[in-house]
Amino acid sequence: MTEQKTWSQRFEGALHPAIVSFNASIGFDIELIEYDLTGSVAHAQMLAHTGIISSEEAQQLVDGLEKIRSEYRNGQFNPGIDAEDVHFAVERRLTEMVGDVGKKLHTARSRNDQVGTDIRLYLREQIDQIRNQLCQLQGVLLNKAQANVETLIPGYTHLQRAQPLSLAHHLLAYFEMLERDWQRLGEIRERVNISPLGCSALAGTTFPIDRHYTATLLEFTGVYRNSLDGVSDRDFAIEFLSASSLIMVHLSRLSEEIILWASQEFGFVTLKDSCATGSSIMPQKKNPDVPELVRGKTGRVFGHLQALLVLMKGLPLAYNKDLQEDKEALFDSVKTVKAGLAAMTILLEEGLEFRTERLAQAVTEDFSNATDVADYLASKGVPFREAYNLVGKVVKTCLAAGKLLKDLTLPEWQQLHPAFEADIYEAIAPTQVVAARNSYGGTGFEQVKQALKEAGGRLRSSARLTRSA
Ligand code: ARG
Repeated sequence: MTEQKTWSQRFEGALHPAIVSFNASIGFDIELIEYDLTGSVAHAQMLAHTGIISSEEAQQLVDGLEKIRSEYRNGQFNPGIDAEDVHFAVERRLTEMVGDVGKKLHTARSRNDQVGTDIRLYLREQIDQIRNQLCQLQGVLLNKAQANVETLIPGYTHLQRAQPLSLAHHLLAYFEMLERDWQRLGEIRERVNISPLGCSALAGTTFPIDRHYTATLLEFTGVYRNSLDGVSDRDFAIEFLSASSLIMVHLSRLSEEIILWASQEFGFVTLKDSCATGSSIMPQKKNPDVPELVRGKTGRVFGHLQALLVLMKGLPLAYNKDLQEDKEALFDSVKTVKAGLAAMTILLEEGLEFRTERLAQAVTEDFSNATDVADYLASKGVPFREAYNLVGKVVKTCLAAGKLLKDLTLPEWQQLHPAFEADIYEAIAPTQVVAARNSYGGTGFEQVKQALKEAGGRLRSSARLTRSA
């Protein structure tokens, strides 16, 4: 295409076609168009507010920009690679539409502060949506937990049976991880929500602009204090990718558990047909593709975090074209996190069922009540370490005899230690083992009921619902 180049008359020759496409970001930064338009509208209004252009001119610019918005929404605005990037594409279309006044839009602005503004507006909105999704998943976890306070599940350390748990307690652990994710994104949002607009190319501008005016119009809470920092800072993007990586860590850990639970070896959950897939060759298979994919997609978000850290580490001030590489990392991470949260929410809400009978059976088949025998003796005055050693011996004997602790007779118990009485059987029954862990934050049913109430209160608090997706 023999398009007039957007940069200056300094250039005589045309760009090599391969370099045109190497240089272009329009293929992906079109994703920013709505934010670019919004930022430009604010900029045009500021130019009029400060008398840099007339209000009639500003109105023409704003009308043109809004027209481009509807063209884009109607699928009529599809700039090609010759536009280089979304910023040039919009400016070119604007000038086509409104004539020479379109050429005034870029007064007192550079693409450097413009693109910085765009990605902040984009990220701010994405953060709000992701935080809403986190709350939705928390809501599903809470409902599942509420229905399963008394459902027991083996608890593990080192993936070895440790102590039985209330299933609600297990699920609430994930609720808390997501709670931190929600908070973290809220904190990051504060640093995302600072305006670089008006930093211009790197040094500010000769025009009497009002940066606070555009910041207010765009609902930023402040402006960058230093123009060099404003155009070249991507800390906020790295923080976002770091928080996104942690969200993926949490989703991936939950995925891993679901995958294990769905195996024949564990058999703790059944996957519903709506969220499982089959094998093309083994007719008996039902595969946990959803949690596997969530676990698998985690790596790309970690990769984007790493990419952006490396991207930034050697950059001299201020803008460098390297920064164009930030976008695909952000866009793909946002899509991956959102898709992962959505899939996990569906999976938990309607895609799996806990096999409660199998779970109840599971907790009776092991030695996960051994600590309780030691605690029993310790509560009767036997020093804990001594009790611990004695129970270790009992477990060894039981293992050799193919017995569980509950199979020992009272005389056998009393032979081991005179402090044992008939209430030992109650003390080692799984339900009692769980109920007894009534320390704050523990799995005891009373604690779990408190925790559920408190978690529900937090989730329903008005702060959660102030911004909608
Ligand atoms: N497409 C560019 C980017 O994404 C816009 C900023 C270009 N600035 C420049 N000085 N070449 O970073």
